[in-house]
Amino acid sequence: MNTAGRDKGMQPLLEVENLVKTYSRRRLAGSGEGVRALDGVSFSIFRGTTLAIVGESGSGKSTLAFCLACLEKPTSGAIRFEDKDIVTLSEKDLRAIRRQMQLIFQDPASSFNPRWGVGEILIEPLALQGNLGRDEMRTRAHALLEQVGLSSSMEAKLASELSGGQRQRLAIARALMLEPKVLILDEALSALDCSVQAQIANLLVDLQSSCGMTYLFITHDLAMAAHLADEIAVMSKGRIVEHGAPNKILNQPQSVITRELLAAVPRLGFAGTRVAES
Ligand SMILES: Nc1ncnc2c1ncn2[C@@H]1O[C@H](COP(=O)(O)OP(=O)(O)OP(=O)(O)O)[C@@H](O)[C@H]1O
Ligand SMILES: [Mg+2]
Repeated sequence: MNTAGRDKGMQPLLEVENLVKTYSRRRLAGSGEGVRALDGVSFSIFRGTTLAIVGESGSGKSTLAFCLACLEKPTSGAIRFEDKDIVTLSEKDLRAIRRQMQLIFQDPASSFNPRWGVGEILIEPLALQGNLGRDEMRTRAHALLEQVGLSSSMEAKLASELSGGQRQRLAIARALMLEPKVLILDEALSALDCSVQAQIANLLVDLQSSCGMTYLFITHDLAMAAHLADEIAVMSKGRIVEHGAPNKILNQPQSVITRELLAAVPRLGFAGTRVAES
């Protein structure tokens, strides 16, 4: 993890400028008034670094993730990926961008077909692209299973036979099959117990050192954010209310929201480079 990109004045990999997303309430309340889920969000992420987004429930984190992954269209503002504004792209061009920004949810199992084998789940996104032969896809699947700490013998298991931690590793491996440049993790560790969270957090750190992966890590957990991220952005009511280095956010919180989030963390205080795998 490093902030060298910002120091050297390099171009960010991803740049978000004044992003607004309004959801209509028309059908529910009978009025034209909408929910402003994102209310002018701006930030940059440099290649090979991690930006954590923290904030209370309903602050707009998932809406931001959906807009970045091109699954929701922002109401206004710009999202520049490798200097290209992706908000204005055609559906055909968006397909290529979606491949490069993979989104992982809290419960990826809901997007796996429980009757499918692990091997099929891994190969499916690549098979849909149709660029590689079956043998090449299987070789990549085996390598990724090992890389995320699942043995390649898991290939024959059904998704329904995996534990929560194994499913989350599978979700990461499946996202990596497409060789994305950015992984957006939306509360991806929240449903796991502490020791599995720590193992997967360490896997993310290892993947970043070995593949230069860039992460947008969304969480309620300020301690985990501080451990994984180069920078933390705190969201409240669709806006970023504080943004800076983890040390600064933890030790000199400026906003009430940050202080509340800090108060909710029982286990702040670790300063090591890895989360303990107890
Ligand atoms: N599809 C939708 N239609 C209408 N309103 C929505 C929709 N999705 C989100 N919202 C509203 O937008 C706001 C932000 O929601 P969002 O899911 O982005 O919050 P969040 O920060 O991810 O919350 P959580 O931590 O609970 O996951 C909320 O007020 C929510 O009710
Ligand atoms: Mg959410």
